[in-house]
Amino acid sequence: MYLLIELLGFILGPSITAGLCYDLHDKAFNSLNCLGYYGVVGSLILFIVNLLFFLSPGHPDFLIVKNQSKHHIEVAMTTEQKVLRLHNYLDNNGIKKGIAVDAMCGLGALGIYLLKYGFEKVIFNDINPEMIETLKMNLEINDVDGGFVIYNEAFEYLDVCHADLCVIDAYPGADISEITQKAEKIADNVIII
Ligand SMILES: C[S@@+](CC[C@H](N)C(=O)[O-])C[C@H]1O[C@@H](n2cnc3c(N)ncnc32)[C@H](O)[C@@H]1O
Repeated sequence: MYLLIELLGFILGPSITAGLCYDLHDKAFNSLNCLGYYGVVGSLILFIVNLLFFLSPGHPDFLIVKNQSKHHIEVAMTTEQKVLRLHNYLDNNGIKKGIAVDAMCGLGALGIYLLKYGFEKVIFNDINPEMIETLKMNLEINDVDGGFVIYNEAFEYLDVCHADLCVIDAYPGADISEITQKAEKIADNVIII
């Protein structure tokens, strides 16, 4: 609806202004008339069209927030930031090796880091089969040829052995209450990235 109104404005504005510029007496366009008319008529048409636009049903609502810097905008972390957070967690808690679960492993960056860090075994799991395929490629590219198992299940229902560490890396805003509960049940240490 509002697009139609805007379109109408685009057609009507220049047409009416051009009509007024045409000097009937001289039978020609009068550029001086044009300038004057355009200022007044153009602004008036613009005002009316925008008024109709904002009154039309279904137009998008705009909100200008002056104190924008005080508001939180969620931006997903980069893989580098995630690895750094994991590294600091291990470092701060004196965790050096053991069995780890990368519960929502995605492309596997965190689990692969754990293997390079010194963990003897990493259990990779992701619900999405496409992620698992890319994980396998990533393991190969990173020359990881042992010390891992791969599952393709919902972590909530994964039948897994007890571990020293469980890494949870969900999408921002996802409800991970059930996943966290499961992680705390199966692992001594749980890091939520
Ligand atoms: C933020 S990504 C993980 C990124 C990963 N750490 C990486 O480095 O690529 C979240 C992952 O959780 C997976 N996922 C979502 N719900 C899940 C669930 N219930 N169980 C297991 N994996 C899940 C998604 O398929 C997605 O790959």
